[in-house]
Amino acid sequence: MSTLFSKIYDPIMRPFEKKRLGNLRERLISHQEGTILEVGSGTGTNFSYYKNAEKVVAIEPNASMRNQSLSKMKRADVPVELVDASGEHLPFDDNTFDAAIGTLVLCTIPNPNRALQEIRRVCIPGVPILFIEHVRVDRPFPGRIQDWLTPFWKRLSDGCHLNRNTLNLIKQNGFQVERIEKYYKDILLVVEAKNGK
Ligand SMILES: C[S@@+](CC[C@H](N)C(=O)[O-])C[C@H]1O[C@@H](n2cnc3c(N)ncnc32)[C@H](O)[C@@H]1O
Repeated sequence: MSTLFSKIYDPIMRPFEKKRLGNLRERLISHQEGTILEVGSGTGTNFSYYKNAEKVVAIEPNASMRNQSLSKMKRADVPVELVDASGEHLPFDDNTFDAAIGTLVLCTIPNPNRALQEIRRVCIPGVPILFIEHVRVDRPFPGRIQDWLTPFWKRLSDGCHLNRNTLNLIKQNGFQVERIEKYYKDILLVVEAKNGK
């Protein structure tokens, strides 16, 4: 995983955060309570949006990303614990968390099915499981363009797939999807689900 990507991530994302993403993150995250799992926390962009959580446990396997997130971790309004772990192998007991959050992460995790099963295992039954994810669109032409671009894009952006059908993955792995918001011609989804175990 590249160090460069972690250094340029925040500046590249800044215009999107200002225009819309920041608002979406705030709306999804700020009211969540209890002990929250964040999967693939990256440079810590979400940390400032937690307002009502008792504690956030953020897992991130990329050391360079973790380093970039340290200052945001210290400035957060709630305690954040940063753990070196991957989504596919969560080092937590069953039924530990009151909510889970993943933003722009299921596109990059090498085995998203495994990660979703792990999220399901470590979260309490029925609790909120929340995602902001870009996905393969359901229309043939733009979908094919996403397929075509993905091999190049993956190399540029540390393994990010433009063409994952992430909503199906979430449903297939036992989460009850309760609400979906679509943005940017259906490429970006906000998904609110419940842990359906
Ligand atoms: C595009 S960044 C998103 C970061 C952050 N969640 C955000 O919303 O800005 C994708 C993140 O997924 C992390 N990642 C990659 N493989 C992972 C895995 N197996 N488990 C968990 N996170 C992973 C990357 O290191 C990176 O920090």
